[in-house]
Amino acid sequence: MKVQQLQNAVEAFDFDINSDEHIPELGRLIADKQVVFVKQKLTEERHYDILDSWGSPGMSPVIAGIGLGKLKGLHWNAVRNTTARIGKLIDPRHRSRMQSVTFQKDHKGRALGIFTNGKLGWHSDQPSFESAQRVVGLASVEASEGSQTTFLSTAECYDNLNCEDRSQVDELMCVNRWDMISKNVFDHFAGELIEEQHAIMRYNGCPLDGLTAPLKGQTASGVPGIHFPGSLFGYFLGMSVDESKKYIKHIWSLMDKPEYIYTHNWKDGEVCYMDQAITLHARPTSVDEGDMRRMWRCSGYLDKLYPGQGPMTMKINVEGEEITWDELFKRVDEVRKAEYNRTKWSKIFHKMP
Ligand SMILES: [Fe+2]
Repeated sequence: MKVQQLQNAVEAFDFDINSDEHIPELGRLIADKQVVFVKQKLTEERHYDILDSWGSPGMSPVIAGIGLGKLKGLHWNAVRNTTARIGKLIDPRHRSRMQSVTFQKDHKGRALGIFTNGKLGWHSDQPSFESAQRVVGLASVEASEGSQTTFLSTAECYDNLNCEDRSQVDELMCVNRWDMISKNVFDHFAGELIEEQHAIMRYNGCPLDGLTAPLKGQTASGVPGIHFPGSLFGYFLGMSVDESKKYIKHIWSLMDKPEYIYTHNWKDGEVCYMDQAITLHARPTSVDEGDMRRMWRCSGYLDKLYPGQGPMTMKINVEGEEITWDELFKRVDEVRKAEYNRTKWSKIFHKMP
């Protein structure tokens, strides 16, 4: 297998993606280089099997909790139905870590994929969790030509930080809050997404207000970088909101540089593997009505290559308080139930003569 640089990403070539020989090496390359392209076509099954050979599935803990019956009741029905529908185009064997990214809808006009429409601002997946999934593999299946994804690995930026910024980044803890996202920020992040997908964004990104993760992150092989919280950012622990916003803006100005960004122009039959700990991605091109673009998104950890780097290995931090995963599920459930009851009663109230 050979590797060549594509700006701030790499391409792996001169190997056969359908043979297992170089697959562990490919997985390690993601941890070391963060964004890896392979310009070879693969089947849905092969896409799944490759990620499966690297480690555990990378499903959001809360979405997984619904599937496992840890989060149950009427108040979870809407989220449960939406997640079931967005897996519909995928073979049941692969649904634990795969979804379609597509505009396609069912006969009732409900989405059959995730991130169905519009553009998507800079983000990483599950940014509020320190033990977030490590890899997302995005394979272009059909009608991808003319669309782009941009990638920003922060490894080099982190290396270039001056002493003062480096020690700040090493120490700061980001408090993430869904309820603090302003409309402006949300519009940029995912504002064009249809409503039923917002719940998925929320439960993936920040299922409980106050979830706190270190600003410094590292890949499964230990490459340090910035675990940028993106639009879910509320403030830094122990710092005022104003001061926090000023500092996060400053960090973003150091990251948002052409030399750290790679823009990919998709063609069908390619696959991109990207780290989620210190790497952001965005979709600058829009997906609109009638668009046939279809991608397979497959996610996971690299814990078979790097033992100990699996899901739920790190404790949950809520504004400085360490809680267990069970306590997290309990709190998320309480909030959801209260919201559900509020909307239920307000619907009943509004129907009253
Ligand atoms: Fe994404």
